[in-house]
Amino acid sequence: MTLSSTLPNSPASPEESNPVLHIWGGAPLSGHVTISGAKNSALVIMAGALLCPQECRIRNVPSLVDVTRMGEILASLGVKLQQQADCLNIDASHISQSKAPYELVSQLRASFFVIGPLLARLGVARIPLPGGCAIGARPVDLHVRGLQAMGADVQIDHGMVYANIRGTSNRLQGARIYLDYPSVGATETLMMAATLADGETIIENAAQEPEVVDLANFCRAMGAKIRGAGTNTIIISGVPSLHSTDYSIIPDRVEAGTFLVAGAITHSEISLSPVLPNHLAAVIAKLQAIGVQVLSEGPNRLRVVSTHRHIATDIETLPYPGFPTDMQAQFMALLTLSEGDSVITETVFENRLRHVAELSRMGADIRVKGNHAIIRGVPVLSGAPVVATDLRASAALVLAGLAAHGKTIIQGLHHLDRGYENLDTKLKKLGARIQRVYGNAETDELLAPTKVG
Ligand code: UD1
Repeated sequence: MTLSSTLPNSPASPEESNPVLHIWGGAPLSGHVTISGAKNSALVIMAGALLCPQECRIRNVPSLVDVTRMGEILASLGVKLQQQADCLNIDASHISQSKAPYELVSQLRASFFVIGPLLARLGVARIPLPGGCAIGARPVDLHVRGLQAMGADVQIDHGMVYANIRGTSNRLQGARIYLDYPSVGATETLMMAATLADGETIIENAAQEPEVVDLANFCRAMGAKIRGAGTNTIIISGVPSLHSTDYSIIPDRVEAGTFLVAGAITHSEISLSPVLPNHLAAVIAKLQAIGVQVLSEGPNRLRVVSTHRHIATDIETLPYPGFPTDMQAQFMALLTLSEGDSVITETVFENRLRHVAELSRMGADIRVKGNHAIIRGVPVLSGAPVVATDLRASAALVLAGLAAHGKTIIQGLHHLDRGYENLDTKLKKLGARIQRVYGNAETDELLAPTKVG
């Protein structure tokens, strides 16, 4: 079976290309939800498989549009992929291309991360600049400077990054690299490149996100020598080559966090597994500060219990272990209904408050000043037609819709489908009245609650 035959495909018809989500708010949730594998781990580990001249098997891969796109990029480089359920085989024994196509890279910023493994494996890589995206300009200067420190010549011309190893050596050289900012992507690019370099690489002020640790563990399973992943200093001793492995990726902490907020905002009680609670420490602490109970039910299972009205709190997004920017929009939805004034400060991305306008359409009271959002809690949100502006913003609108009075209709689901595996189906199983609608299908009857309160 090929990758494209089992992962989400491009929609077949014009109607299917623009589905909307109808949510009839106010239904309590109950039951258990299964958390999928981490999107951000899957994407970078797929890129990391380029380092290996033998077939690798990756398990717990979520079925997402972004994963399909990354698969298409690898396929365009000559890599063979096979997918069966959540198990993905990647055979990069023959890489026939060092150039990634612009049409694909421009759709998925994470695909730029192939530059590190390609350069390490082939000594040359040509990757289009990914460009900005909905949440900010997102430059790649830290990736480029690190690769240069490791002996790569990197030129940027007409939107294309041309990288090749300097001199006659066919290996990158170990180097000491200080990152001006603990960028997740730059840490991952440089860690992958360093696995096959000649000598030792030290990455200082490295990102400490769990997905960085997951990538390090995957590389170590292939024979890489990496220490310190998960701290701010990562030391990689280069080896001449890596070998095949079978690796299972971690559960998605952002999906888990989103379901915790779903339980909270609907004043429900739901359980989720598998989760790694340590990865959710900042999110759990904020839920508790708001008045939501998060209980541990064994090592990989959490229960969220929300019985009282929530109280306001302040949140500042930060690199891990700080509060994740990928949970900011979902918490904003929750705080719109909490008693008192909350301030959310977004420090990681410069344009990640676009969901404010959409939440305001639903009756939220939010003012934006620079990178601060001041949220004055309101007693109710009201359902409205809204547009998702980016991946996590779309999740925030779903959450607001679950709690709002009346019907919310969300457009822009291509954002949601990039990063959440079957979110609407999972919510429906928990009792949400939610329906994906193609074309002009009428769903009011389907969704209408038996009693409208
Ligand atoms: C990754 C995650 C994304 C998450 C983000 C922060 C993936 C596929 N995506 O994105 O979901 O929101 O981490 O946790 O893993 N920056 C530079 N120069 C660079 C690189 C980054 O200035 O060379 C800036 C960015 O513009 C941004 C900040 O650093 O303002 C953080 O970016 P980074 O940590 O690199 O995020 P990503 O790896 O792109």
